[in-house]
Amino acid sequence: MLKFTLMQRSKMLAFPGASSKIAEVVSDGGYSKPFVVFDKGVKSLGIADRVLSALRSAGIAFEEFSGVVPDPPCDVVDSAAAACRSSGCDCVIAIGGGSSIDVAKGVSVLRFNGGGILDYADPSVPMARCPGLISVPTTAGTGSELSNGIIITDPRTGSKVPIVGDKAMSEYVILDPELTLGMPPGLTAMTGLDVFSHALEAYTTVLAGPMTDIVCEKLMQDVAEFLPRAVADGGDLEARQRMLCCASLGGWMLANCCAHVGHSLAHVIGARFHVPHGAACAYACPAMMRFIAPAAPEKVRRAGEILGARFDGSEGPAEIAEKSAEAYSRFCEGLGLQPASELGISRDAAAALAREVSEECFAGLTPRKVSEADARAMLEDVFG
Ligand SMILES: [Fe+2]
Repeated sequence: MLKFTLMQRSKMLAFPGASSKIAEVVSDGGYSKPFVVFDKGVKSLGIADRVLSALRSAGIAFEEFSGVVPDPPCDVVDSAAAACRSSGCDCVIAIGGGSSIDVAKGVSVLRFNGGGILDYADPSVPMARCPGLISVPTTAGTGSELSNGIIITDPRTGSKVPIVGDKAMSEYVILDPELTLGMPPGLTAMTGLDVFSHALEAYTTVLAGPMTDIVCEKLMQDVAEFLPRAVADGGDLEARQRMLCCASLGGWMLANCCAHVGHSLAHVIGARFHVPHGAACAYACPAMMRFIAPAAPEKVRRAGEILGARFDGSEGPAEIAEKSAEAYSRFCEGLGLQPASELGISRDAAAALAREVSEECFAGLTPRKVSEADARAMLEDVFG
């Protein structure tokens, strides 16, 4: 099978007010009745209604599903898909953060494929193409709108299960920074740090290449510049727009070269200790940098430089990692991220998750092989 260098399949609108074009997007796809997926938070903030009222004004009938919850379990996707099937809808609109977009992606999968969503965690299970997904992100974080990943929780094990949905990516993406104005500083910081992790991990996976490197470096630079502005002033439209673009392009990088052990740590920590995904990525990042520096010293140094670390060229991998990790920690501190040491998670409880981390599906894309002992050392580093 050919490994293509770069793919981008989704059609995008990206400008302030873009979500007002939702009806035209539906029509452009040849669709007439959307199944609209969101959560109660997006509804209570009035964000869902801005999009729904644009559909109403255009005379487009739709069905609503407002049952999305954080870290969505498989039964939410399966029941939403059943509701979609019986509604006669011919496309799916996601309004929200990664959880809503992942549920909508799962609904799209089950519109065209049988069974339950967790059946597709096995990549050998064939998946028919799933057109008709329109994603309207309201946070600048997961980049799920441009990624091929679907993260669903298995309630039997409590684990987050990544599903590769190459055939279920968004057909359209609407990036409207006005929908993210006023997002609280804490949520802005956590979701933005997820973007940085996507850029840094995609930059350093075994699948990275010169074309994706260029995008990832620019993403890290823009997050370093614009995330502090978005956190400091929720109404800074330019910062919001740049972060929304970075988040989507980060998702695009995930679709092309994936993440690695930083996200393995984040998925396991997040599922076991209910740490929000972006924060879990941020806690994992310094330990991940220290681990990969022997295999990718130049790239870890570049990430450190972008975050303000200074190097004189004499540093070996360990010192490069230390300086870059310190710069990253300072960056997080400036954004007001609560230190991992204040979460009340013991080093031993975290270390017990080592095998799960080393066996998590992204760990194999790390530029060094991740043994159980390596994973334990990283967990102890995070919660030490
Ligand atoms: Fe992530």
